[in-house]
Amino acid sequence: MQITLETKPFAALETEALVTYVFENGDVSQGRIAELDKLTGGLLGRLNNGGELTGKNLEMTLLHVPAGLKATRLLLVGAGKRDQFNSATLRKIAGAALRYLKTRSVRNFAFAVRERDATEETAQAITEAAIAADFETDKYKTDKKNDKFIEGMTIAGFSDAEKSAGDKGITRGRIIGEAQNFTRELVNEPSNKLTPRILAEKAEAMAKEAGLAVEVLDEKKIAELKMGALLSVAQGSVEPPRMIVITYTPANPKPGAPVVGLVGKAVTFDTGGISIKPADGMEKMKYDMAGGATMIGIVRALAALKPNVKVICVVPSTENMPGGRAQKPGDIQTAMSGKTIEVLNTDAEGRLILADGVHYAKQLGATHLVDAATLTGAIVVALANINVGVFGSDQAWTDKLLASAKAAGEKMWQLPMDDEYRELIKGSFADIQNIGSGKGGGSITGAWFIREFAGDTPWIHLDIAGTAWNDEAKPWLAKGPTGVGLRTLVHLITSL
Ligand code: BES
Ligand code: MN
Ligand code: ZN
Repeated sequence: MQITLETKPFAALETEALVTYVFENGDVSQGRIAELDKLTGGLLGRLNNGGELTGKNLEMTLLHVPAGLKATRLLLVGAGKRDQFNSATLRKIAGAALRYLKTRSVRNFAFAVRERDATEETAQAITEAAIAADFETDKYKTDKKNDKFIEGMTIAGFSDAEKSAGDKGITRGRIIGEAQNFTRELVNEPSNKLTPRILAEKAEAMAKEAGLAVEVLDEKKIAELKMGALLSVAQGSVEPPRMIVITYTPANPKPGAPVVGLVGKAVTFDTGGISIKPADGMEKMKYDMAGGATMIGIVRALAALKPNVKVICVVPSTENMPGGRAQKPGDIQTAMSGKTIEVLNTDAEGRLILADGVHYAKQLGATHLVDAATLTGAIVVALANINVGVFGSDQAWTDKLLASAKAAGEKMWQLPMDDEYRELIKGSFADIQNIGSGKGGGSITGAWFIREFAGDTPWIHLDIAGTAWNDEAKPWLAKGPTGVGLRTLVHLITSL
């Protein structure tokens, strides 16, 4: 999809569809909508009076051959209440508009921002949202709707003076939106098409193309380094594990500057192991590598954005299978750090592989850690599929992330990590156990387990089990992988 910026007045835009957004409560007489209303001879006011154009969230009003405009169609998207409007709303509007027009075989459209919205940030947000909305999960369908595609989007409503800011936003937005789709492509792959070895190959190919340093540790190297926690999960499968390490190094790194370690869980399929999962819904466990795919997508974006921060991306990848050699409940494993772990439930495997991932990232020089993982079903109970669960060991570091989440339009919510929860994973027969004793707080005890391996290094854990996968298509996004977390972490790293 081509994305360009246009400074022509609305009336002069030659496009198959001119899109803009309308707020609730008599907005039709305000700002640029008033201009459009005038151009169309008061049509918008009449629709508003008749109750057909209300401005309610994502209400779609499509007008054909609007008089007074060069555009073939005018699409007005409801934007809700003006005082609740933010860049997250704008993203949904732009994404929903693209998908709405695409199903109607429209090939190109102009998205016109309202007064006050002609900024670099909005151009970036619209670009990211459009690229994400354009992504379809029909890769393995033989009857793809090849005749329905968007060729070009023009962002309009910018003056000549605002054009360079808008162009910058589009450039950044394209890098980030495409990285997010790269992540979603990986997450969309079923486990027979994406084993740990294939994931490593794809990561390697991406890194080489982007000019990033990459090293893939195979099962021999993993054993040599004594990554016992990762190996314990992998031993139940005939597919060997991989540890993927991609490093972004800036041209002129500042001495003493933070080095960010991004650690992502990449279980390419989670059966639960010997503590096997119920059959119902197990097919979804192909997305248990979403944390790793997110981190790989992030370094892809960083290679193009070139922030002045060193980033080490560490992705432990394995299957979790109940094979003849699989680990069994009660087994005691020694992690790379030397800590011993009593595996009370083989389905709590994500934290095991992250234990070695986090330790290794520190050993490679990370001074600030973030991990992302589809870690617990409990986070779905707590936050549904709305918010990412955030856990942190250092409030200043965590606050930075939460600010970035706001800026990137991703919903995230911090949960507590009191010491009392740590007591629940104290081991009876080893240093720690991989599930909490007693009931409740499953996401927090999972987070504490990982934190044991982060030690004093400022660390954040993102539990994306509820948010990495859309069970239903949204008007602005296809069903399936979301790529959640990528935009926030790119924002965090580029604003350090
Ligand atoms: N991959 C799952 C978590 C998950 C659940 C992701 C639902 C996406 C949707 C994880 O490995 C797991 O099985 N966690 C267990 C932990 C429990 C055994 C302490 C869980 O949440 O049930
Ligand atoms: Mn599991
Ligand atoms: Zn899992």
